[in-house]
Amino acid sequence: NGPALCVQRASSTTRFAVSQDELKKQVGYKSVDDYVQSGMVVGLGTGSTAAFAVERLGMKLKAGELKDIVAIPTSIRTKEQAESLGVPLVTLDSHSVLDVAIDGADEVDPALNLVKGRGGALLREKMVEVCAKKFIVIVDDSKMVPGLGVTGAMPVEITPFCHEHTQRTILELPGVKGAATGKLRMDGDKPYVTDNDNYIVDLYYTDPIADVKAVARALEGVVGVVEHGFFLDMTTAVIVAGKEGIEVIN
Ligand code: 5RP
Repeated sequence: NGPALCVQRASSTTRFAVSQDELKKQVGYKSVDDYVQSGMVVGLGTGSTAAFAVERLGMKLKAGELKDIVAIPTSIRTKEQAESLGVPLVTLDSHSVLDVAIDGADEVDPALNLVKGRGGALLREKMVEVCAKKFIVIVDDSKMVPGLGVTGAMPVEITPFCHEHTQRTILELPGVKGAATGKLRMDGDKPYVTDNDNYIVDLYYTDPIADVKAVARALEGVVGVVEHGFFLDMTTAVIVAGKEGIEVIN
């Protein structure tokens, strides 16, 4: 049995000239409206789509439509946004189980497996989102792919210590060697540094990855790899917005 599909057609007004930003806002707002209730512990993702969910949560708390919420941000920038909106924050140290986590994604395949981390927040995102009873992914339809690894980087967070060695080790792995090239993510002329003071190697595949689980396992076996951007078997539902309307896939 494949994922179930529930399609809500766009109203006549939303069918015309909807920008990508508007699509992100639609799914961000819908995720909070449909999945967040008073009293919940909520995981807040990172990125331009997740920012709309954070915005909606802040609005509903301010309006008194939601009460007794605590939230766990997945990056420093999400923490700052949530704080600016008055969203009460906690951490996994005090709350190891979340009712729901909401986040964007870079790629979503037909089995609802994901590539995440092009925004650099993969480690905190995965740490928080694996602890959620429901993980709701919010995307515009450009993120839906037939197979992972086709639209851009597959990020791997690594330690700065001997990062060139770790990058070479990654590029020799089965499922990576001959299939992908690797590039240390840069921020100007310096390596990009994550919220956890690590580096990122971006893997670029030319074809969809044949055995994603095998590549994920191989990466997990490399000492020096902190986390990879495959989010496998984690998704509860994907809310997708496109020109034709919003779909909920689960
Ligand atoms: C950050 C992420 C983001 O969720 C992902 O990059 C999607 O971002 P956006 O909604 O801006 O397209 O994984 O690490």
